[in-house]
Amino acid sequence: MTETLSEIRPLVAGNWKMNGLSAALGESAEVRDALPALGKSAPDVMICPPATLVAQLAAASKGSALAVGGQDCHAAASGAHTGDISAEMLKDAGATAVIVGHSERRADHGELDRIVKAKAAAAHRAGLTAIVCIGETKGERLADLTLNVVNRQLAASLPDTATAHNTVVAYEPIWAIGTGLTPEAKDVAEIHAAIRKNLESRFGPAGKGIRILYGGSVKPTNARELLSLPNVNGALVGGASLKAVDFLAIIRAYG
Ligand code: PGA
Repeated sequence: MTETLSEIRPLVAGNWKMNGLSAALGESAEVRDALPALGKSAPDVMICPPATLVAQLAAASKGSALAVGGQDCHAAASGAHTGDISAEMLKDAGATAVIVGHSERRADHGELDRIVKAKAAAAHRAGLTAIVCIGETKGERLADLTLNVVNRQLAASLPDTATAHNTVVAYEPIWAIGTGLTPEAKDVAEIHAAIRKNLESRFGPAGKGIRILYGGSVKPTNARELLSLPNVNGALVGGASLKAVDFLAIIRAYG
């Protein structure tokens, strides 16, 4: 992988979380149908719907520029894990990526860094891109521990199999998720620069090409400022990805 930073194609990924019945596929269809008219600077676009909609969305998006991702996977390929879904199953359903280590999974399901790392490795094994989420709590930010936390999570959550093609890092300050709060632009730039440095020192040239997304209350009104910062190679969008009109406005921040 020899691409330089300026050549990184940005990614705007929507994380629908536990939202969306079949009727929501109307929103994703609207996004899909708007993509061909975007210009050359258009980012890659992905929607990560709930697992129940992955196969339907993948079928509806086949042949289009809209990619589909899962929101979590188990580390094993198959076995006695009731209720879980493997990376291979997501791939089989038509996904090309999977989010792992989202702070809501870390909090709701006690997912530790080593579990996240095993899930990311499972994604790689299955041929999926792992979107690995990291980010600090409000308390850690106030205690000036953000960079320590982020570097620790990167070291412990990213498997050695990470490359610029199969891995995306999503920096999501937990206190910014779903709250309407965002860090100041200079703080986002500082943290993304530290993440880039970390990736380069561990992965060499591949570390230059791994996309680093910002996530946490990205909206049409703040997308342009956040997404134009150095080392911000796109966004992971929660609430504002549920409505096509908002999600497209964020995507068009690259217009
Ligand atoms: P939000 O969520 O955009 O609703 O803050 C982002 C995320 O959790 O990925």
